[in-house]
Amino acid sequence: MSEAPDAKPSYPWRMEDLVSLCARRGLIFPSSEIYGGINGFWDYGPLGVELKNNLKALWWQRVVRERDDVEGLDSSIICHPRTWEASGHVEHFSDPMVDCRACKKRFRADQLDDAGKCSAREGSSQHDFTPARNFNLMLKTFVGASEDAAAVAWLRAETCQAIFNDFKRVKDASRQKIPFGIAQIGKAFRNEINPRNFTFRSREFEQAELEFFIHPSEREKWFAHWMDERVRFHRDLGLQPDRLRVKHHDTLAHYAKAGADIEFLFPFGWQEIEGIHDRGDWDLSRHSEFSGKDLAITDEETKEHYLPMVIETSVGVDRTCLAVLCNGYEEQKLDDGETRTVLHLHPAVAPIKVAVLPLSKKLAEPAQKLERSLRRRWNTFYDEAGNIGRRYRRQDEVGTPFCVTYDFESETDGQVTVRERDAMTQVRLPIDGVRRWLEERLEVAA
Ligand code: GAP
Repeated sequence: MSEAPDAKPSYPWRMEDLVSLCARRGLIFPSSEIYGGINGFWDYGPLGVELKNNLKALWWQRVVRERDDVEGLDSSIICHPRTWEASGHVEHFSDPMVDCRACKKRFRADQLDDAGKCSAREGSSQHDFTPARNFNLMLKTFVGASEDAAAVAWLRAETCQAIFNDFKRVKDASRQKIPFGIAQIGKAFRNEINPRNFTFRSREFEQAELEFFIHPSEREKWFAHWMDERVRFHRDLGLQPDRLRVKHHDTLAHYAKAGADIEFLFPFGWQEIEGIHDRGDWDLSRHSEFSGKDLAITDEETKEHYLPMVIETSVGVDRTCLAVLCNGYEEQKLDDGETRTVLHLHPAVAPIKVAVLPLSKKLAEPAQKLERSLRRRWNTFYDEAGNIGRRYRRQDEVGTPFCVTYDFESETDGQVTVRERDAMTQVRLPIDGVRRWLEERLEVAA
């Protein structure tokens, strides 16, 4: 973890370079681009969806599958509207906002340093701000044929409220006892006043959340446990230790009793990628009150009847993808004067694990045969277009850990060359040993 909490970002490249690579190579680009985009919404292209799916699979593996005490859930995005009254979102989930009377732009009152100059005022570049007022961040919709107050529903602002709604059902169905957790990955929506920093602050994004239900006497123990687990996850992903830190909250969210953020040092500064909170019994007590259903449990042995406390871990999938991309992006000056753009991605999240490249189109058939055999195991790519150096570069810039080159000698010696992305070292291997060799390097636990 970082020893220098306020270290300035030391990225020798500009954010625009990464954004441009992401669009050019089909990782991430603006939603509805042909209409000029829609602010705060992003699409993950062919390689981006692989990266994101890999990241989600890794989280699910660690948080759900490898544990006996966590169950999975995939709830609906729209919940009963009372859910959001109980959670406090209808009343409290807002940011202070101001409008400029001249240029009509809207800003977050707590981020006016970024407001820039007013384009509409003559003789002055200062904005003409209205007083601050609160702006609710939840996105509203209507369910059913009418659009009156009774039909109002909300796109969920966080995935966890459905976990609280379903707590009793999941507990009973899975026969879990306290302590245990419920985890889910899914979309969340917030009508952010100023979406910015690429995907960092979006209006539609994905969260991976765990609500871990515990006895009130074990709050510190489980908070520490989940903090350690989650920091380990980000480290194992390869995020540089000096770009990761834990920041304990001085002030807490309306529901939280203890809280800390895991922050990453982006090119635009230290920012939260995950929140860990002791939410107390706020959620279960509110949902008990608003639904009229008692969500307390009875300990079978002690007969104690109590509302469990909750430790929450909530990570932004898009923010972690962005951290992984920023962490891995490099523009290397090579000895021959050329620049090599490379994404140093952990093999577990790399969109393509291995590319097969025949040295000549004449070798397409055996090379494709090899690629097809590897494709059953990993996401692979076959490329026979252009010179071999250029083909390596195309794979480097999307983070493919290994390239396998099939050449004319392969026909006689039954061997291929495997090139590694980061060190660019090459080894010659028997074709029938390639899969095993790759397995040993790609299946490393993240
Ligand atoms: N259930 C708790 C909760 O939602 P949060 O700190 O508001 O807490 C959790 O959000 C995580 O969701 C954040 O750490 C961040 O990674 C992600 N997140 C929140 N707002 C986001 C946004 N507008 N765009 C992208 N990710 C966001």
